[in-house]
Amino acid sequence: MPPANSAQRPPILTGSSLVKTYGSSTALAGVDIAIAAGESVAIMGASGSGKTTLLHTLAGITPSDSGHVGFYSASGLVDVTAMNESERSRLRREAFGFVFQQGLLIPELTALENTALPLMLAGYPRREAEGRAQHWLVALGLGGMETRRIGELSGGQAQRVAIARAQVTGATVVFADEPTGALDSATSEDVMSALLGSTVGQGHALVVVTHDETVAARCSRVVRLRDGRVLSHTAVGTTFGSNAVTA
Ligand SMILES: Nc1ncnc2c1ncn2[C@@H]1O[C@H](COP(=O)(O)OP(=O)(O)OP(=O)(O)O)[C@@H](O)[C@H]1O
Ligand SMILES: [Mg+2]
Repeated sequence: MPPANSAQRPPILTGSSLVKTYGSSTALAGVDIAIAAGESVAIMGASGSGKTTLLHTLAGITPSDSGHVGFYSASGLVDVTAMNESERSRLRREAFGFVFQQGLLIPELTALENTALPLMLAGYPRREAEGRAQHWLVALGLGGMETRRIGELSGGQAQRVAIARAQVTGATVVFADEPTGALDSATSEDVMSALLGSTVGQGHALVVVTHDETVAARCSRVVRLRDGRVLSHTAVGTTFGSNAVTA
């Protein structure tokens, strides 16, 4: 069994005995992790310790060689490990959100169009997709910037568009890989507030890979990896408090 999460709530996502190798290099050497709804987990560790691999394995992007990933959806436990690529892709679209270091936003599209894109791809009518996108942009402090293209926004504003896009489908788990890696410390604080408020603040879970101790200190738990193994799970006080985003 994976270790209990710090909040002692039932897990929404679990990884058990996860092993992943690339040729002769072992990215994950038997990782156990359990993440609860309403919890924010920072994954830390040196470069090459397996952080991104763990995030991608939990999110159903990269299948592990062995071990299990379980997701507790509204309709019960889903064995992510047993899913094929198209089932995993659907799970990612419907239940998970993603924020990466460089936003991966489409420069030709506006903030509103970028945010609405996951809904458009899921077949929502444009009007409804843009209505929901607008709601999230306003919630993340970007009201009035809807028609700007990504190049017309600051780095922190662009990351908040990426957070809005990750949330727009109602993701119950958001995965972020170095979301503040390209930002200065003040902007990084703002982006973390937006990220925590829009996930944990909504009762959802956040899994964030970071090299930044300030970012990790704002999460409810820090998991440190070394050479593909969990070195420690540490509960920390969350300070997202007043930053909850209402959406
Ligand atoms: N697609 C791949 N092909 C080959 N090896 C890989 C691949 N992805 C990761 N690895 C290897 O697996 C190990 C873990 O990589 P991972 O990307 O998970 O590290 P990380 O902790 O995220 O590092 P960083 O902080 O540099 O992003 C490394 O040794 C890496 O070289
Ligand atoms: Mg990485």
